[in-house]
Amino acid sequence: MKRNTRAGQSAAGAGADLNLSDRGSEAEEHYHSLVALSRVSAAISGLHELDAILRIGLDNVLNIMNGTVGGVMLRDESGQNLFYRVYHGLSDKYAEEMRLKLGEGIAGKVAQSGRAALLEDISSDPDAARLDLISSEGLRAFISVPLRARDNVLGVMNVASHVPHRFTKEDVHLLHSIGDQLGIAIEQARLHDRLRKARERLRKLARQNLVAEEKERRRIARELHDETSQSLSGIALQLEALIEMASQSGNQDASFIAGLRKVQSLTVQVHKEVSRVISNLHPTVLDTLGLVAAARQHAKNTLQSLDINVTTEVKGSEMRFPADVEAALFRVVQGAIGNIAEHSKAKNVSMVFVYQPDELALNISDDGQGFDVSRITDVEESGRGRGLFSMRERVGFLGGTSGIESRVGAGAMVWVKIPIHQDIRYGQNTGSGN
Ligand SMILES: Nc1ncnc2c1ncn2[C@@H]1O[C@H](COP(=O)(O)OP(=O)(O)OP(=O)(O)O)[C@@H](O)[C@H]1O
Ligand SMILES: [Mg+2]
Repeated sequence: MKRNTRAGQSAAGAGADLNLSDRGSEAEEHYHSLVALSRVSAAISGLHELDAILRIGLDNVLNIMNGTVGGVMLRDESGQNLFYRVYHGLSDKYAEEMRLKLGEGIAGKVAQSGRAALLEDISSDPDAARLDLISSEGLRAFISVPLRARDNVLGVMNVASHVPHRFTKEDVHLLHSIGDQLGIAIEQARLHDRLRKARERLRKLARQNLVAEEKERRRIARELHDETSQSLSGIALQLEALIEMASQSGNQDASFIAGLRKVQSLTVQVHKEVSRVISNLHPTVLDTLGLVAAARQHAKNTLQSLDINVTTEVKGSEMRFPADVEAALFRVVQGAIGNIAEHSKAKNVSMVFVYQPDELALNISDDGQGFDVSRITDVEESGRGRGLFSMRERVGFLGGTSGIESRVGAGAMVWVKIPIHQDIRYGQNTGSGN
């Protein structure tokens, strides 16, 4: 990628290029270098994007040197070739065609050796490559410094002028120092980019895992429902019929009948247990009636036996969303209700769904013992934290935000906000209520 930079707000014309050497005493020179260095450093600090670093770095160098022509060449992925990544005052043709192998031409040698090169007139230098391009561009004085990070040379920075010029040692020192600074910034930008990509990959993986997990839960729930659960209710009915038949045929064997009753009631119990498992895996009501009904049913089933009272309120008209969105939101409800059952010692729980045209807000609050939220900073070995962090992930995947607010002794509240846009709008749900 090439980019012509907008440098040199105070840059003089070509005739006044590169007048560093006219700056007076050594002390002044030193002072000027320090100021220049800190200027570049301040300009690029905090930047993470490679092109921005290079553009601003080059702009500053040209400004410091009153120059108008320059560019940064970077090594390509193979490390064997150099190409212009940003440039200023050079034609596009020059920047596009000036591609050098490592060791080729002036910049190629600088990149290979890590040592700067200073030329009073590059257009007559026997080591220069592509003299045709150089002379049609009218380049004369030329300075090229390596951009180093640790022991690696990542590229070079070139500054040129259209008139012959004699550089000073200080010019080289200064540009060398700036080159080192830029080199480190470039490496940091690349690390930052790699980290960003790795994080992106991880997020994609996590999202795919959640989708796969949801699909698998739904499959197991369906199989359990269609086979195990149906068979169990069939067996329970058959047992019921057998008990009926036995008593009608005058069977007096009380222990036989009691045995049958026991098996029947065990079967009913197992059936209930399987239904509970199915419901936790993927409640059918989520598909048929939607999120609010499934959340209400789940909260009641989980909390009623613990003597916790639950109220559910819906504001606005409930909407249906695609199955994966509803499943993700149901998991969030499940996590919050699970936490209330497990940790809160609450007496009352309130779930409020607020449907607005462009947002769904959900609050689940309890009046239990609360906890210190600031202590949950990571997922612990024990799994503590997993529920809250995975809630945040799931909501994040839907483009929403979520959080938990709590204080010791003051209950807890989980809140979720999901933007409703074209992709997740599905239709109005008519089957809702309180
Ligand atoms: N409603 C609540 N009331 C009191 N404490 C809570 C409540 N919700 C969460 N907590 C506290 O926050 C901690 C973290 O919750 P989180 O759901 O992340 O993990 P967990 O419930 O311990 O484990 P997991 O969800 O994996 O079973 C809990 O261990 C508990 O101490
Ligand atoms: Mg939990």
